[in-house]
Amino acid sequence: MRPSDLPIDLRSDTVTRPTPGMRAAMAAAEVGDDVYRDDPTVNRLEAAVAERFGFESAVFFATGTQSNLAALMAHCARGDEYLVGQEAHTYKYEQGGAAVLGSIQPQPLENEPDGSIALERIAAAIKPDDIHFARTRLLALENTIGGRVLPLAYLRAATQLAHARGLKAHLDGARIFNAAVKLGVTAAAAVKGFDSVSICLSKGLGAPAGSVLVGSREFTQGARRWRKALGGGMRQVGILAAAGLYALEHHVARLAEDHANAAFLAERLRAAGLSVEMPHTNMVYLSVPPAQVAPLAAHLAAHGVLASIGARTRLVTHLDLARGALERVAELIEAHFAAR
Ligand SMILES: Cc1ncc(COP(=O)(O)O)c(C=O)c1O
Repeated sequence: MRPSDLPIDLRSDTVTRPTPGMRAAMAAAEVGDDVYRDDPTVNRLEAAVAERFGFESAVFFATGTQSNLAALMAHCARGDEYLVGQEAHTYKYEQGGAAVLGSIQPQPLENEPDGSIALERIAAAIKPDDIHFARTRLLALENTIGGRVLPLAYLRAATQLAHARGLKAHLDGARIFNAAVKLGVTAAAAVKGFDSVSICLSKGLGAPAGSVLVGSREFTQGARRWRKALGGGMRQVGILAAAGLYALEHHVARLAEDHANAAFLAERLRAAGLSVEMPHTNMVYLSVPPAQVAPLAAHLAAHGVLASIGARTRLVTHLDLARGALERVAELIEAHFAAR
C-alpha cells in the first residue's frame, strides 16, 4: 500500500510503511551474525553513518531508546549525573531508563520555549567536586525537540560550555536530519561539537526500525558492550540495516516535503481562525479548547483520520502523507470548527 491507500495517520512519523524500493533493498540484503560483526550490511551502514556525521565510529541499535540509554551508560558510571531538559525524550519518555537501568542520576532542567536549556541554567547545575554530590558528567540535548530546531550557535555554545566544565555532550538526534534539512547544512555540521549522537532511521526517514549511535571508537566500544547487556545484540540484522541505507540515500532530501506539508496544514488552520504554532519541521501544534477535544477526536476518527487529539494536539507529517491527505485533514478540521 502506498500513501493514497493508507489511512491518514498524523500521530507520529514512526507510522510509515517501508516503500517497495526499501522492501526490495531489505530482501536483497547480504547478512551475517552482527554480534560477531559479521553482517556486511550493518557494517556498511555503521561506516556510512559515522562518515556522514563526521565521527570515528558507529553502532547500530534496535531503537532510539536503546541507543540513547547505551550512550548515557557509556558516558556515565553508576552514581554519575547527566543534565537533561524536562521535555527531553531521554528524561520524560523513556521511563527514566538512565536511572532505572543505568544507575545514573538525571538532573532535569527547564526547557526554554524554543526547546533549548539556558546556558546559565546548565552552568549553575554542574555540581562541584564534593562528596555530597553526584558527579556531573554529561549534558544531553535533543534536536529537533518537539519539532523545533535548535540554533547552531546555541548548540556550539552549549557543547563548549560542557567541555570547558569537563563534561561530555550527547545529542538525541532522533530527528537530526529534519534539523539539517531545515537549516540547509550537512549532517556533520548539524552535530558539530557533540561527543555522541543517536540518530533514528525509523522516524522521518521511514525505515521500519533502527537507530545508529556515533562517537569515538572508544565510546562506541563501550556502547556496544552495553547494547549486548540491554538485549540489543541482534543477529542477521542486515535486513534492517539495508532499510536504513536505503533511507539515507532516498529519504533525507525529501524531508523538505514533510516540512512544506506541515507549513501548509498550519497555514490553512490558522487562516480558519484556529490557534496554531507555525512549525519548524514536520510537527504542527494545534490548540484545541477542552470542550472540543473529544468531539474533534470523534469527528476525525469517523472520517478515518488517526490523530492524538488533546489540548495541545500534535499533528505530524511524514513519508506516507502526500499533500492531498493534508488538504483533507485541513478540510475536516475546518468543517468541525465551522459547525461550532
Ligand atoms: C526525540 C526522540 N528520541 C528518542 C526516541 C525513541 O525512539 P524509539 O521509539 O525508537 O525508541 C523518540 C521516539 O519517538 C523520540 O521522539
